[in-house]
Amino acid sequence: MSNFIDDAAVVPPKRTRTTRPKTHLYCVIDAGRSRIKFQARTSTRSTPVMTLDSLVCPVESLPYGERGAFSMARTVDDQHNEIVEHWVVGSSARFQGKDFVTMTERADHKVAYFPVLALGAIASLPYLEEFSTGTHKSKRTLHIHLSTLSLASPRTLHSAIEQCRWIVVDGVKYRLSFSRAGCVGFPEGYGAALFTQQRLREVDVATHTFYTFDIGFGTATLTEYDNLGSLPKRGMCNPHGGGGIVTLLRVFAEQLSTVDAARVMRPSQIKDILETSTLDDQGGIHAYTAEGHDIGDVLSVAIRQWMKDSPLTYALETLATSGRRHPVTLCGGGFAIAPVRMLVRDYLRQAGIPNEHILIPEDPGTIALAEMHHLFSSPPPKDSLHEARHTTDAA
Ligand SMILES: Nc1ncnc2c1ncn2[C@@H]1O[C@H](COP(=O)(O)OP(=O)(O)OP(=O)(O)O)[C@@H](O)[C@H]1O
Ligand SMILES: [Mg+2]
Repeated sequence: MSNFIDDAAVVPPKRTRTTRPKTHLYCVIDAGRSRIKFQARTSTRSTPVMTLDSLVCPVESLPYGERGAFSMARTVDDQHNEIVEHWVVGSSARFQGKDFVTMTERADHKVAYFPVLALGAIASLPYLEEFSTGTHKSKRTLHIHLSTLSLASPRTLHSAIEQCRWIVVDGVKYRLSFSRAGCVGFPEGYGAALFTQQRLREVDVATHTFYTFDIGFGTATLTEYDNLGSLPKRGMCNPHGGGGIVTLLRVFAEQLSTVDAARVMRPSQIKDILETSTLDDQGGIHAYTAEGHDIGDVLSVAIRQWMKDSPLTYALETLATSGRRHPVTLCGGGFAIAPVRMLVRDYLRQAGIPNEHILIPEDPGTIALAEMHHLFSSPPPKDSLHEARHTTDAA
């Protein structure tokens, strides 16, 4: 008699698969005309607010170990083979020996190049290995929840970036998976509104309305917010195209050429001089050329002229009346330039805006992004380099 148990077919032991929990990467990106500002976080780690110049350059092969360099594919040829593209995003795009593209060249460049700008930002993130999921060292997956701070529709941006299935950064291939639900579009400069709401609560000012005034590269955007619920809601938004730093640069260059017609300065040199200009204790403006000459007086004239005779003038006039009734936060990279900050603030004070209505964050250039962490449910991870402390500059 055969033993039933012995005759039974031997069942091979079931192979157990170890499943790793997905790492979800939350990215917030503000792809501006002059700089891409971005911050990324997982449940355990967060980067500080990082910036890249808004320049892109298509290259023949992928440079290794370069910030913002990556390969990707988003289209196929007639034989259905992927067409691989190599890109360098950021200041190093200038040094590839090829023509690079700036986002100021055309009005729609910011949207058309959005996938390249966003992938450049993702490629330049530190700890990409930690931010991705996978058992293989050189084949990993990034599960990305991408929020944008931009006036373009998040759907349009999402469907453009969704075409990109993978990127290669420094020899590691990352499959890309963009969460459709996680793709949220916030009003441009929303972090500045969150900052204002927080600050008004701290000083116990009950106001239903406040403004943010963002001087960027191309625009000087005045936005009105409702402060009634738990989150500020955007109302009126006027971008005042042409009111940004690019117009100031032009006025400054014109002023310089009338003062010293023999000296020719490159636009990038003039931009550097402007960005590194300073104030002394008496409120005197200083701006130094490469040779060490102080041309602060020329800069002072240029800023005043820019405020009086450019699209910024209209923005300031509107602000001067609105600011009497409601508080306004000054933000955007323009306010990171000390003389601009001082002269605009003086103008607003002279226009009769009470001192306590003018809020200036410690780092106005990145506040629109830095304060977005209030929207994530958990507090920023402990090891985060970003310190969410901002004070009002009342000086
Ligand atoms: N930390 C800084 N110090 C000095 N100048 C700065 C700083 N940050 C930005 N700027 C200047 O402010 C300008 C505008 O910067 P910002 O990042 O607000 O522009 P953007 O968001 O790219 O432009 P837009 O909003 O028009 O698309 C920059 O071109 C630069 O000249
Ligand atoms: Mg901007």
